[in-house]
Amino acid sequence: MKKINIFLLGYGQVGKNFFRLVQEKQDFCRRKYEHHICVSTVLNSRGGLYTASEKKGEGMFTGSALGSKLEEHPDYVSGMDFENVLEYPDLDILVDCTPSDIRTGKPSLDYTHRALNRGMHVVTASKGPLVVDFAGIRTNAEKNSVCLGMSGATAAALPTLDVALRSLAGAEILGIEGILNGTSNYVLTRMSEGMTYAQALNEAQRKGMAEPNPEQDVEGWDTAAKILIITNAVMGTSYTLEDMRVEGITNISSSLWKEAKKTGHKLKLIGRFSPQRKTQNLETRLSPIHPSHSLYGVDGAAKGITFFTDTMNTVTVTGGKSDPRGAAAALLKDVLNIYRG
Ligand SMILES: NC(=O)c1ccc[n+]([C@@H]2O[C@H](COP(=O)([O-])OP(=O)(O)OC[C@H]3O[C@@H](n4cnc5c(N)ncnc54)[C@H](OP(=O)(O)O)[C@@H]3O)[C@@H](O)[C@H]2O)c1
Repeated sequence: MKKINIFLLGYGQVGKNFFRLVQEKQDFCRRKYEHHICVSTVLNSRGGLYTASEKKGEGMFTGSALGSKLEEHPDYVSGMDFENVLEYPDLDILVDCTPSDIRTGKPSLDYTHRALNRGMHVVTASKGPLVVDFAGIRTNAEKNSVCLGMSGATAAALPTLDVALRSLAGAEILGIEGILNGTSNYVLTRMSEGMTYAQALNEAQRKGMAEPNPEQDVEGWDTAAKILIITNAVMGTSYTLEDMRVEGITNISSSLWKEAKKTGHKLKLIGRFSPQRKTQNLETRLSPIHPSHSLYGVDGAAKGITFFTDTMNTVTVTGGKSDPRGAAAALLKDVLNIYRG
């Protein structure tokens, strides 16, 4: 039985769900994969908890002992930081659930490199470090012979990288198109049914699908970050946001809607990689989608991705839970797959 000690960085919506999921699935993972998965360290921005395996046997906090507020745990150490944790023994994987700043990569760009340098695998939900320094992180992981799990940052429960890197091995990828952001897709779907932008966004916020500040979603940056990371991971490229044309859904002209309706198209926010184009081959654009397109039926908060290949034709994946628990499940998948080879 392989014991896997996890350092969980960030205890917000995704971090809490990840912690709970590990507890919930612990017996299942022992039985099915012969892995004993433990969260032995948890850190938020003000402090954290560390359970040495020799001190507490299983090296895992119990559900009752770790509630929704980290600070309320009796062993919480205020001021404990990343530096302190890196000195602890027995840490196999960093699971990064800190916020995504796609302009600076903070807070976890530096943490990612330091964990890799210490020989830890990194599984991340944060797009920031991967957008800002994909090439550096990839090289560093290779140098230290450790793995990077990026599913949580690339549409989470919708399998994107797993499909491209494993299921399409040997095929040349001729293009990628994705509906990668549930909030903007929901707003567009409701607008196509007659709502105004403000009404649709308001409804998405009321239903808890959109953030109180939905800027990253509706202005296209979340989609841009995801297609950028997916492209770099799949194609071995080193694109940055500066290489991209990015548009959102905040200013759609009524003539565009009318034209789309008249010709039987749907308007979708598409993250797209088109390698045959000489310039601007990576973009996030509002695009009219014909009924024959594989993403035409991806409506509401759903997501989907299509890979165009030379030998396998068009391969499309749709679905996947679009919430913090779905994101947590994608992180757990990456952890397990690292040890399954
Ligand atoms: N929410 C989703 O459905 C979803 C889906 C896919 C991917 N993601 C990605 O997952 C990540 C986490 O999202 P979330 O919704 O869980 O965010 P969140 O609720 O804001 O939680 C962020 C956590 O990170 C902690 N944190 C911030 N700076 C830190 C630092 N320097 N050191 C240690 N901890 C730090 C925060 O600590 P404090 O509590 O002390 O502030 C908080 O616990 C983001 O990158 C997001 O893009 C989210």
